Amino acid sequence: MNQKKYKSNKAGLNSCFLNKKNPFDLFKAWMAKAKKTEINDPNALALATVNRKKQPSVRMVLLKGLTNKEFIFYTNLNSKKSNELKSNPKASMCFHWKSIRRQIRIEGSIAKVPGKVADKYYNSRPYGSRIGAWASIQSRPMETRSDLMNRIKEYKKKFPSHKKVPRPPYWSGFALKANEVEFWLDGQNRIHERLRYKRLGSRWVKEILYP
Ligand SMILES: Cc1cc2nc3c(=O)[nH]c(=O)nc-3n(C[C@H](O)[C@H](O)[C@H](O)COP(=O)(O)O)c2cc1C
Repeated sequence: MNQKKYKSNKAGLNSCFLNKKNPFDLFKAWMAKAKKTEINDPNALALATVNRKKQPSVRMVLLKGLTNKEFIFYTNLNSKKSNELKSNPKASMCFHWKSIRRQIRIEGSIAKVPGKVADKYYNSRPYGSRIGAWASIQSRPMETRSDLMNRIKEYKKKFPSHKKVPRPPYWSGFALKANEVEFWLDGQNRIHERLRYKRLGSRWVKEILYP
């Protein structure tokens, strides 16, 4: 469906889709609504990555940054997801807010955020979380839980001042530059509504999709 037709047809679309030129403004509007209704973590999303053997894997992460191009999350750079992103820097994200029965799917390419951006976010985290980033060898097998507790103790000794915990070299953020963003609204009798934005160079093209 072309842009013109979409516009002339917009009266038939649910007003929840609003009439935003780019998906980021609509994303922000939906996130603001979800923040009011979700019982916790409205910024939680399922992140899908694919390894060298084309095996997909998915896990939850938290959205911690949003620009007019990118969705940003933070993690351990030696984790399974990070290793997959190193070999295949593409990912998908999916938000699902049960309280408002809405879904947003995002696809795009991945790049590490600049060190300064990661530092800023890292330094905003509570002391315990910053120590945890040092102590956890994320996604590696662990003999006993006390191994982790001991590592936490060691790093607390190494960095006793709450104000001086540097960001571990193996902890940073990834930014997903969106190529496609799809908004899904629950409808009666499973007749849902879908609106997809596709990036074409510097502009976004909108299409509505069969449910
Ligand atoms: C609601 C929720 C939010 C999470 N947020 C993050 C996050 O922001 N970063 C992260 O590394 N792991 C987060 N996790 C843990 C991941 O789901 C996952 O267990 C971990 O990152 C290891 O994944 P991997 O082995 O695929 O790399 C979160 C888990 C849940 C349930």
